[in-house]
Amino acid sequence: MKSKKLKPKKQGATRATTKPLRPMVKRANKPESLVVIGDPHSEPDHKGNLEVAELIGKFVAQANPSLVWCAGDLATMNSLSSYDKGKNASVGRSYGADCIAAVAWQDRFRHFADQSGHRPTYYLNEGNHEHRIHTALDLDNTLVGALSYSDLQFDRYWDEVCWYSGATPGVLTLPGTGIIAAHFFTQGNYLRAVSGLHTASTMNRLNMVSSIQAHSHLYDHKIARRADGQFIQALVAGCNISDKRDREGKLLAYHSWAGAANESWWRGICYLTNLDGKGGYDLSCIRLSSLRKMFA
Ligand SMILES: [Fe+2]
Repeated sequence: MKSKKLKPKKQGATRATTKPLRPMVKRANKPESLVVIGDPHSEPDHKGNLEVAELIGKFVAQANPSLVWCAGDLATMNSLSSYDKGKNASVGRSYGADCIAAVAWQDRFRHFADQSGHRPTYYLNEGNHEHRIHTALDLDNTLVGALSYSDLQFDRYWDEVCWYSGATPGVLTLPGTGIIAAHFFTQGNYLRAVSGLHTASTMNRLNMVSSIQAHSHLYDHKIARRADGQFIQALVAGCNISDKRDREGKLLAYHSWAGAANESWWRGICYLTNLDGKGGYDLSCIRLSSLRKMFA
């Protein structure tokens, strides 16, 4: 579902990419496998982000999935953080640098993913961090024409982008899978993300269909069975923020706003195979450290 975006679109201060991307091909609407990429959070000053993009790209090229879905928060957009406005944390941040980091991540990812002769269909959901662009334009209409979603070049790297629907993340139906996906799901009229210790179980109960979200950067998975016998599965897909550390053991891509929670985040991709078209699948969870071993 597409929410109305503030116009006009404008090409921003992102670098031009040089290599043509492998074009989309029409395929039978019976996908067999899906690679899920939880929040990448590409940021200008976080070392290791591009290594992650490369590892995931190499996995996609090797696995040849039918579909690839990224949960959003691909761009963190720290420059537009309303929490940090006027604080010391905002010093040195720039909108242009945020966009360049996001484009560089996508460019590295697709460069390696396109090494294969196989071409998956690429889906992306808008996360709350990209939605900061909408919020910034909504709060200050003098910025219309200066900031735009097109600065992130999503149209170039993804076949379909699912935008926010009003105040909440859009819900994407992944064709032929029986699975719905969103940056996060909400709880009825309560617009906050489904969360808690048993998030996946709650998703099964609320969504009543197989579903995938990310957002929390945590991992959870739960299989339930409907009265008609159909299995449904809920997946909370972690994140893809780099797991690399400095000599003192501090994460290089440390998110200071999250503090101790950085250590509880699950970092890796999920690979869903043998999709039955009704929401059933086999699940593999592959940590970034395991991807690094695969492609060392
Ligand atoms: Fe996130």
